Amino acid sequence: MIWKTNINKMTGTKYPLIMGAFAGYGKTEFAALFSNAGGLGVITALNYQIGDFKSELQKMKELTDKPFGINLTVLPPGVRALNVKVSKDDYLKYLEIAINEGVKVFFTSAYQATHLGKRIHEAGCYWIHKCALIRHAISAEKAGADAITLIGMEASGFKNPYQHTTLVNITMTKRLLKVPIIAAGGIGDARGFLGALAMGAEGVCLGSAILTTAESPVPKEMKKKWLEMDILSEDYHKKLYHRDLKATRVLSTAIVHQKEIVPLRDFIENIMDEAGEILKSWGFKENQLDILSI
Ligand SMILES: Cc1cc2nc3c(=O)[nH]c(=O)nc-3n(C[C@H](O)[C@H](O)[C@H](O)COP(=O)(O)O)c2cc1C
Repeated sequence: MIWKTNINKMTGTKYPLIMGAFAGYGKTEFAALFSNAGGLGVITALNYQIGDFKSELQKMKELTDKPFGINLTVLPPGVRALNVKVSKDDYLKYLEIAINEGVKVFFTSAYQATHLGKRIHEAGCYWIHKCALIRHAISAEKAGADAITLIGMEASGFKNPYQHTTLVNITMTKRLLKVPIIAAGGIGDARGFLGALAMGAEGVCLGSAILTTAESPVPKEMKKKWLEMDILSEDYHKKLYHRDLKATRVLSTAIVHQKEIVPLRDFIENIMDEAGEILKSWGFKENQLDILSI
């Protein structure tokens, strides 16, 4: 099945699949595998010191000849991540290095990033902003973002107490925005992928689901523990759906679709093959889903 959406047109990838950003785990080697598997691998810039970033991008280009992107997680003033203390100027330094290395797609997330978006556009690149609230998505579109990743409360990662579910986010935002939307939060199988497209997304961000694949840089014991988590327990529910402005302590329910640790490429191929089969079972006869022409 050939997939054509405004998102994979923008990213130049085979599939409209975007790798999530991961503090600690969004590393070059893993991102290269994601790109090689047909999605857009994304390097989380803050996992590297500015001085090491250029050589990581060069390594990336040796590991893949496919498109890839960069995430800049804009921390609110005073917040530190992974012991990397970043100033406003530092973000521009990461950005400059990536522009010089030929990166074409940039993801900003968490906090306002208009100043970065401006520079990304000056360089002729795409700016995609990731946020949790619909009103922030509207602001980011107004500020010029080319696409928005909207994270539902099903997601792992940083939480906003006023977040809606992925379903509400995407269906509502589809009516409110002109730019294409990438759905994030709780997606880890073919039905979730197709559901997101049906709701109005033109791409899907895979977060928790890929952290339990064979090559993710997460320790094997932790992967096993995650896959065995009782997602029906109250304890898990409290950890995932808490209403505090802080990160969750568990992966999202996106992981329940995986029964065992499989290679990332197989995981992605399985989702895309099954999505094609499901479309056929619904009577879809074409060999391509072309949302651009709808
Ligand atoms: C361990 C972990 C670390 C994360 N770190 C970041 C980060 O540094 N920046 C960011 O924008 N999102 C981060 N996220 C969020 C993901 O990029 C993505 O938005 C989220 O995982 C999607 O929801 P899902 O987990 O249900 O697929 C993180 C998620 C996890 C699980």
